[in-house]
Amino acid sequence: MIDVLLGLQWGDEGKGKIVDVLAPQYQVVARFQGGPNAGHTLEFNGLKHVLHQIPSGIFRNDILNIIGNGVVLDPIVFKKEIDGLAKFNLALTANLQISRKASIIIPTHRLLDAAYEQAKGDSKIGSTLRGIGPTYQDKVARQGLRVGDILSPNFQEKYNKLVAIHKVILDQNNFDHASVLPQAETEFFGAVEFMKQFQLNDSEYAVNEAIQSGKKVLAEGAQGSLLDIDFGSYPFVTSSSTMTAGACTGLGVAPGQIGEVYGIFKAYCTRVGSGPFPTELLDETGEQMRQEGREFGSTTGRPRRCGWLDLPALKYAIMINGVTQLVMMKVDVLNIFDEIKVCTHYELPNGDMTEKMPYDLCDTPVKPVYQSFAGWKTDLTDIRSFADVPPELATYVYFLEDTLGLPINFISTSPDREAIIHRQAVIA
Ligand code: GDP
Ligand code: IMO
Ligand code: MG
Repeated sequence: MIDVLLGLQWGDEGKGKIVDVLAPQYQVVARFQGGPNAGHTLEFNGLKHVLHQIPSGIFRNDILNIIGNGVVLDPIVFKKEIDGLAKFNLALTANLQISRKASIIIPTHRLLDAAYEQAKGDSKIGSTLRGIGPTYQDKVARQGLRVGDILSPNFQEKYNKLVAIHKVILDQNNFDHASVLPQAETEFFGAVEFMKQFQLNDSEYAVNEAIQSGKKVLAEGAQGSLLDIDFGSYPFVTSSSTMTAGACTGLGVAPGQIGEVYGIFKAYCTRVGSGPFPTELLDETGEQMRQEGREFGSTTGRPRRCGWLDLPALKYAIMINGVTQLVMMKVDVLNIFDEIKVCTHYELPNGDMTEKMPYDLCDTPVKPVYQSFAGWKTDLTDIRSFADVPPELATYVYFLEDTLGLPINFISTSPDREAIIHRQAVIA
């Protein structure tokens, strides 16, 4: 079986931390989509480390980490990540495999990302500008480069062909490439050579053979369900399938092999970039959340937009992913509030109430309808057992479990690996 761990909101839920926490139970951790737009933060032994493309199982011994075929991989970022891990003395070439079918981000993909955003003006997506959209575009257009291509004798030729296509588009958009491309290309080809020391394989065999031999595999999602290319707040989404189904196509595993689906959510909501966010707080409370939660992007450093927990959105994400258990993150950030609000419904412009995600959320603003809870106003740092949580927090947790119909089996109370309350909740 393969378990899937993914974000149920707009990304940055704390997936990296939970993969790291659960990793000792697994023999394989595999990323199935996204690329360097992701920033997954791990904290342990007083150290903080952000991973972008390398799976979050890398710090645990004897775990095979796989970058699957659904990923778009930037060799330049990959080399930097590997260099950044040097001080940890990890067995990287032994413990890391990359699918030959993963797509490659080339320097012009990043320029195209910037050119497209520039052309969109006020309606820009707020992309991380890591070249994600253009690389997936080339994959679907059947003209992209894949990791396996770097071993081909005519890689340079294939690369030149793609760059020629990109240059036409950049020129059409009056986007300067001549001044930056030569240096980026030198770095790119250096990084491509560097990548050759790693195991480049058909990772669908590695994953399926691991499953067949009884090993436990964890699929690590990037971004979040509300950024999914099909079900997110289109067009303000990323370009991959961020949901459970994406683990099947992004690793080559059959749907029947999926076991547990861990749905990770913050006790409130954040979003980076543009797009609808019904519970967004543009007031002092939102600012307090941002400061208390240190809500600044792990990849771009941009301030994250903050707001109360959105249950219609969460229920939707649970439904499309087949989530089997929930993990609630950053509960400690709410310690400071006297009152904690949760959006239970949306009020539509015509006055109707709904618990469903409206199709036209981008064009039609909805009004969140809130239920209030008393804050717990207690430091949770040293609490490791659910029996010790303040009664107000327990009430909040029971309400969510009841409404969502799923157990919240993990509650995270600080960035550190050790700060986790683990329980086996039973839902009536
Ligand atoms: P990911 O992209 O889902 O892996 O999440 P990010 O790493 O981008 O963002 C989550 C941020 O919250 C990181 O800075 C984590 O160190 C931090 N974090 C994770 N869990 C907790 C928690 O329970 N409490 C607090 N205060 N911070 C947390
Ligand atoms: P992790 O894995 C939060 C957002 C961007 C932008 C939109 C499209 O760390 O949770 P893209 O660069 O993919 O074309 O950007 O998606 N976005 C993320 N937001 N966390 C992420 O990853 C994100 N990856 C992309 O801010 O709004
Ligand atoms: Mg992140």
